[in-house]
Parts: sequence; C-alpha cells; structure tokens
Amino acid sequence: MSEFKRTTVTAALIYANGPIHIGHLAGCYLPADIYVRFLRLQNKDVIFVSGTDEHGVPITIKAQKEGKTPQEVVDYYYKEIKQSFEEFGISFDIYGRTSDPVHHKLSQEFFLKLYQEGKFIEEVTEQFYDEEAGQFLADRYIVGECPSCHQPGAYGDQCEKCGTTLSPNELINPKSTLSGSAPSLRPTKNWFLPLDQWQPELEKYVASHPEWKSNVSGQVKSWLNDGLKPRAMTRDLTWGVPVPIEGNEGKVLYVWFDAPIGYISMTSQLRPDWEKYWKDKDSRIVHFIGKDNIVFHCLIFPAMCMAHGDYQLADQVPANEFMNLEGDKISTSRNWAVWLHEYLKEFPGKQDVLRYALTASSPETKDADFTWADFQTKNNSELVAILGNFVNRAFVLLDKNFESKVPTKLEDSPLEIELKKSLSEIPDKLAAALEGYKFRDALVYAMEVARLGNKYLAEAEPWKLMKENPEKAGHVLNYAIQLVSHVSIALEPFLPFTTQKLRNSLGIAKADWALLGDFESIPVGTSLKNPGLLFEKLEDDVIQKQVEKLQQSKQQMLLQSKQPNPIKDTVDFESFAKMDIRIGQVIAAEKMEKSKKLLKLTVDDGLRQRTILSGIAEHFDVDQVVGRKVTFLANLAPRKMMGLESEGMILMAEGQDGKLSFIEPDSSIWNGASVS
Ligand code: MF3
Ligand code: ZN
Repeated sequence: MSEFKRTTVTAALIYANGPIHIGHLAGCYLPADIYVRFLRLQNKDVIFVSGTDEHGVPITIKAQKEGKTPQEVVDYYYKEIKQSFEEFGISFDIYGRTSDPVHHKLSQEFFLKLYQEGKFIEEVTEQFYDEEAGQFLADRYIVGECPSCHQPGAYGDQCEKCGTTLSPNELINPKSTLSGSAPSLRPTKNWFLPLDQWQPELEKYVASHPEWKSNVSGQVKSWLNDGLKPRAMTRDLTWGVPVPIEGNEGKVLYVWFDAPIGYISMTSQLRPDWEKYWKDKDSRIVHFIGKDNIVFHCLIFPAMCMAHGDYQLADQVPANEFMNLEGDKISTSRNWAVWLHEYLKEFPGKQDVLRYALTASSPETKDADFTWADFQTKNNSELVAILGNFVNRAFVLLDKNFESKVPTKLEDSPLEIELKKSLSEIPDKLAAALEGYKFRDALVYAMEVARLGNKYLAEAEPWKLMKENPEKAGHVLNYAIQLVSHVSIALEPFLPFTTQKLRNSLGIAKADWALLGDFESIPVGTSLKNPGLLFEKLEDDVIQKQVEKLQQSKQQMLLQSKQPNPIKDTVDFESFAKMDIRIGQVIAAEKMEKSKKLLKLTVDDGLRQRTILSGIAEHFDVDQVVGRKVTFLANLAPRKMMGLESEGMILMAEGQDGKLSFIEPDSSIWNGASVS
C-alpha cells in the first residue's frame, strides 16, 4: 500500500428507515472502523465517510406505514442512527445524508454529464401504474405471487421466501401495495446505463484485482458470466433526487444511482481539498459493505464512474457475509435482532464488549452466528480473565508497593529477553492481518499482548519478589506497565473505550503505532492512575434475560405467523350427527409408566366413569387436569394403547404457541350434556 498517499474509506449508506442492530455493526461499520483506526494509529492520511441513504422505496413504504412524510422518517432515523454509531465509537470523519442539497446537486451534475455526453440509452417501456393512486409502481410498490416458489406477497424486486431476484412484470397476479388494485401498464420514458457496453472494461477492472476476497469476486464473476444488461437509472417516483432534465417532473434518479455518489458529496462537505480523495490516482478507495451490496459497488458504481471519467475506481471492496443471531437470520420485521440502542440500555458502558464479541466472530468469509452464550464466554474468559486480569494485577501491585510510580529497571533476565522477542513478532503479524482485512485474526494477535503480560507476571512473580528483592520486583513492574502501554496500542482499533481509559491511566495523549514494542515509552517515575476494573463478569441470569427476550420475539412471531388450516371437505349432516360429543369431568388422572405423551384420565360422563387415554402429558401435570370439565368424543371406537383401553377422545385445540388447550364449557354445564 506504500504507493498510495491517502486512503478514502467508505461504509455503506444505510437506509434511514429503522434503527440499527448488531448485524449492521458486524457487517461493515465495525470492520471499517477498526481499519480506519489502524491507519490513524500510523498517522496515515485517511478519511472515513458514511451517512444515511434517504431515498428509495424502502423509505417511502416506511413513511406510508407510519402515516408520516418520507422527510419526517429520514429526519428521525438519521439522528437515531448517527447517535448509535457515535455511542459505539464508530469514528466517522463525516456522517452525512443523501437528502442534503449538496448531495442533490452533485448527483444531478453527475447524471447530467452522462446525459449530455450520450452515455444513457433513452427508452420508453411499459411500467405498472396504479390508476387509483395515480402513480407508477416501482420495485416494492408491487406484490404478487412469486413465479418460482408461488409464495403470495413476493415483491416487485425480490421474493423474500425463496430469495429470487424479480422484476415487477414477472409476478403472477400483480397488485399495487398502495391501493390493492391490479395495476395497468403505461408507457414511460427512462434512462438506462448500458452496462452491457461496459462489460469488457468491467471485466478488466475485476481481473486487475485478484486480491479481492473470494466471496466478493465470486459474486461479481457470476454476474459477469450471466452477462450484464442495461439498467434503468431513473424511476417514476416523487421521492428522490429529481431528474435534472426539463419536462421530467415526477421522475427521480434511481436510488442506487444517487446513493454511492453520496460518498463523494459527503466528502465534499468534509474538507475543501476533497477532490483528491476521489480523483487522484495516488488515492486508494476502500468500500466496506455487506454482501447484498456487492454488485452495486463492484459493477454498477464503477460503470457509472467509468462513464463519468473523473473519478477513481475502488481498490478494495471488503464485503462481509451476514451475522445471524442465535441460529436465525436477523430480521427487523420479526424483531429477531439485538438493537444497539437497547443493548446500551441494558449493558451501559459495555460497548467494547460487544465490539469484541462481534469482531471475534466476524462473518468475514461466511455467515457467522452471534449467541449470548458466546458473548458471555468472550467477556468472562477473555476480556475479564485475560485482559482485565493482567492490567489489574499490574496496577494493583504498583499502587500497593510503589506508590503508583513507575519503578526503575535493572538488567534484563532471560524472562525479559524472551518477552521482548515474543512481543517483537506481534506488530508485523497484526499489521498484516489488518491490511488483509482479517479482523478476527488481528484481534487474536492484539490479545496476544495481554496474554504475554499474564505469562510474564506468572513467571516473574513480582508479589513474591517484594519481600526478598524489591528492586527486582520494581523491575518486573516496569516491564508490566510498558506492556500495558502496548496493550493500549494494539487493542486501540478494537476496544477504543477501554484503551482510552488505559491511556488516561498511563498519561499518554495519543496512541502511536510506532511505540508498540518500545519498552521505554512510559518513563521511570511517572505517576500512574489505576483505571479500576476494566471489565466485569457477566452472570448467567443477565445472559438468560437476553435469551428470554429473544424467545419472546419468537413467540410473538409464531402468533403472527400461525395460519389456520384450510377447511376440510364438506360432510353431510348425517355424518356429523353420528358423532356423540359430550361434556364430562376429569375425576382422576395418572401418568403412564411407559409413555411420555399419554395421561390416563378417569372421566365422569354423567352415566358412568370411563377411561380415556389422552396425549397431553407433555402439556399438563396430573394436578392441572383433575377437576376440569372437558369436551370429548363419546362414541369413538375403543382403542387399545399401551395395554389399556381408551374409551373416547378428549377434544383439544392447539394454541398459537403450540400449547394444547381444553375446550371448556361454562361451569353450569352438567356432566353428560351433549354438544351439538
Ligand atoms: N442503502 C443501501 C442498503 O442499506 C446501501 C447503500 S450503499 C451506497 O443496502 F453505496 F449506496 F451508498
Ligand atoms: Zn419465491
């Protein structure tokens, strides 16, 4: 990377239509932040740009659902999202928004240049139109049956059930989400970027980057293999950047046209010399994104830049796969997520713990899974037991024996020689991992510094030396404190809050990569301030609470998703009348020895007591059923089960959570009453 003078780092512009969760953080913001912090540690010229994507159908749909204007929606979420990122230490240099007039102007200029230079194909096509609502129906404004899996309610751009990418005219029985009516087709003019014409250059571009991650190049190559097609860069919508050609009211730029230009327009608001970050050959551009954004950043935006001519193409697009949660895909609509603002309420001050856990299981090469159990282990066995423990021991010994002042060093013993050697191997390994976007590995190398610290203290045993040789103990503690300073550098990109505390304790103004491995950097005699416990153990009940909270979401989801069975074939009245359904009362119940499922019930049917075996043992204890009135089928042919004869069947209904429930009459109904 030495031939580059500066680095422009972007992180995807998230849609401003909802709060953010751990999947967003792990997907691109955390890796981007770690990377940028690493470059800053080395005093490299780097800018970190992101913001919200405030156009597109996802925004207008949300507005419609909430009865708000799109502007109200994006204003609200812009603030909320920006704040969450700040709270988690994501250190953007600018966090902008695409509804900003500066952005509108720049993307219109971009579009106009392409238009005037004849880079678009102007084409009239038939698009769906909602007569009642009086508007065209792009992407998610249209739903219908999926042509491939036949799920109803598939969107005009994608079926969420089977994942197929669709275009609105492929849907079976399309319907407008605005009025619910069947749309008609209307001709309309739009401007297409002929991606097919750019394919040869795009292929060259992709081929010149063999270093791209395999998940990225794999997806890109499959698009290229299928052959690129012209793609409309305008839409018949009212929310977005207006098409800057006269006589085209009611048309806006395609959200994926204007959004990536947002990276540039935001940079232009960051600094007056912004152009060099995008136009100079010696600038290196890195886009951090999630895997659903790959085609836009690796093919479509580059084709736009090629057509425009002034802007450099990205050097790296380190896209991550997805972070799942407790084995399931994170989903906003199903509330299957850990929301950042909720996490912070429940774990105040523990941003670094989440940053650590997410980085340690980052979905770099394949989808990963976040579990609360793993979160607890990472906290208790790594942050508390390794990092916290080392730092705490060093400071406590210093406070107790040396009045919190850095003691003098003596001659190195073999222990220090070995320590220095081990430590000297870390910076290069750590840097190589970070430069290679391998953040999981990088975190392991950085933690190695704290591990070395623990090992050194365990072997040197300064607490024992205090009695026989206090100078030697001081020597060891000097080393330990220098190591704490190395910890504060190596872990800075990952744990910015914790390392800031360490810098405060050590009196270091700014972390500096060059001092990682320097055993003189904290001068003898410096007064230090114990940072206190850096991490605290998380008990089972705290973790259990989070797991339960998720289980509640799942219950809620089941409630919403349970569909009644289709109605069975018609029966004639005679068939129905043959069934003798009655009310009875359970007067005794017993577990069956060999069966997990069956309870043996004694039911008073008004005439006599009968035995009914019922498959409810997993739902009810014996004492929960005795005394209950039940509805049962009295003339079901007797059946032998587990050596006993069952004379009838208790009627039950399955609740939406899968639990069974009795069909209980009012208490006035007597045993033996017929149900008809
Ligand atoms: N809003 C898009 C999403 O959330 C990402 C846009 S990234 C940019 O998937 F390139 F357009 F900026
Ligand atoms: Zn489908």
